[in-house]
Amino acid sequence: MKEMVGVVITRVAIGFPLHGGDVRAPSAVFDQIFEVFLLLGTAVGVVVVAYTMYHALKYRDDGGTDPYADKVERPEMGEMPTGGAGGRKVFYSFSISAIIVVSLIAWTYSQLLYIEQGPDPAQTDALEIDVEGYRFGWDFVYPNGHTTNTLYVPQDRVVRLQVTSTDVFHNFGIPELRVKTDAVPGQYTSAWFTANETGTYAAKCYELCGSGHSLMTTDVVVMPQDEYEEWYAETEGTNETKSGGNETGGADHQIAPATAGGVPA
Ligand code: CUA
Repeated sequence: MKEMVGVVITRVAIGFPLHGGDVRAPSAVFDQIFEVFLLLGTAVGVVVVAYTMYHALKYRDDGGTDPYADKVERPEMGEMPTGGAGGRKVFYSFSISAIIVVSLIAWTYSQLLYIEQGPDPAQTDALEIDVEGYRFGWDFVYPNGHTTNTLYVPQDRVVRLQVTSTDVFHNFGIPELRVKTDAVPGQYTSAWFTANETGTYAAKCYELCGSGHSLMTTDVVVMPQDEYEEWYAETEGTNETKSGGNETGGADHQIAPATAGGVPA
């Protein structure tokens, strides 16, 4: 972590764009939020249950006489107990809970703000890709105009997505990379990620959009940077999409009209 901060500070100081590998990926952020909640939740649970068990045992009715009978006034059944020590225990437990809860909210909010805004665009050489959802598939439009149905991205580089739809509401998500955003016709929503490991990930639609909704999946291929550059160089002026909107048509990609669902055009 310290090294990472060091690298970031150095790069910012000398004006180089941040390498995608230096940027905290959304997946790392969400994993950390999960871990913090899990640990804290477990710790609080253990303390509360242990304290309860201890007192249940300590003050159990063992059939004997009350050793404090002459020192304290026991409440009758249905009567509110009058606490001792001026409510100190209540004060402590309330303030400790409040501190934990408020810090947790503040910290989580700051983490989500980072997810919302992404790393500073001026400091990252981000790859911008437009994502267009349609019934039933995705088009990915690269800066050079090349369009694909599979999302190809380089490893360790910040990828910024501008997501929209050409027909109904969809929702674009890559669960493993913790990316998810609405695809709404007539407007763009943004999302970003950086993938630190090469491989193939699944992208899916997360908004019920018709009979082909569950088929609206595609691959996200994370390639080593040089391999990506090579692929990208060859894409100039070509398209490989199967969306209805493009001249390549692609009957295999379309749902048969009888089952297409939704409103007829
Ligand atoms: Cu598109 Cu569900």
